Amino acid sequence: MNNLLQLMRNMASIYAKKGVPYLENIESCSNFPKFKEALDNLKLSDLDMPYDKKYLYNPDEPLKYLKIIDEENLGMGIFFFPDGKGFHTHDHPGMMVATKILDGTLLSRSFEPLDVERQKHLHKIIAESRENEPGCAKDLEAGLIVKDLGTKELKTGQAAYLTPLHRNVHNVKAVGETAMLDVFIPNYSHRHFYTLVKDQENKDHRRLIMKLKGTTFNSIQLKYEDYKNK
Ligand SMILES: [Fe+2]
Repeated sequence: MNNLLQLMRNMASIYAKKGVPYLENIESCSNFPKFKEALDNLKLSDLDMPYDKKYLYNPDEPLKYLKIIDEENLGMGIFFFPDGKGFHTHDHPGMMVATKILDGTLLSRSFEPLDVERQKHLHKIIAESRENEPGCAKDLEAGLIVKDLGTKELKTGQAAYLTPLHRNVHNVKAVGETAMLDVFIPNYSHRHFYTLVKDQENKDHRRLIMKLKGTTFNSIQLKYEDYKNK
């Protein structure tokens, strides 16, 4: 665990100096294979905390998120999905996200924007609250064309990665109770949710329409240090 934390901190500090272009090429960075290996080796037991399934996966309560690291350039935490729960289609603007399944099975369907500049343009419209300007409304309505990379099944012990350019948009759904650990560089500050529509012109492509409302996950946030000593 300490080795993994050290590698994550190194990567986050390089990001602080170099910005998003570093994350765009992170798969060819010398630290990345070591980070991948450390994450592959991580087990639930390394987290040295109680695994109270009844509490963590209570389907009558909002989703539990256990925050382990919460810094500007680095985030790490575990989502505990009750059976059948997940996140609908969303993105990770300018981020690298590494996911490790600590327990259970997750279905993850990924998409890759064909035109990243257009994705940035749509994000900018939202950030600047210009969605009601005529040209902007039209652009938002036309949405974003993405390649559908299909659904991957991730089981206990398996990991997956996304970068600002690759697999940046996805939706996830748990099959059975599932603990998903995520590492974020930089930490999550905002995201966009999308409605998925079939693209008429290409069967491998989908059209994503950005939703303007309901852009947050409803969750109960737990602090690692508090929960660990519970
Ligand atoms: Fe995500």
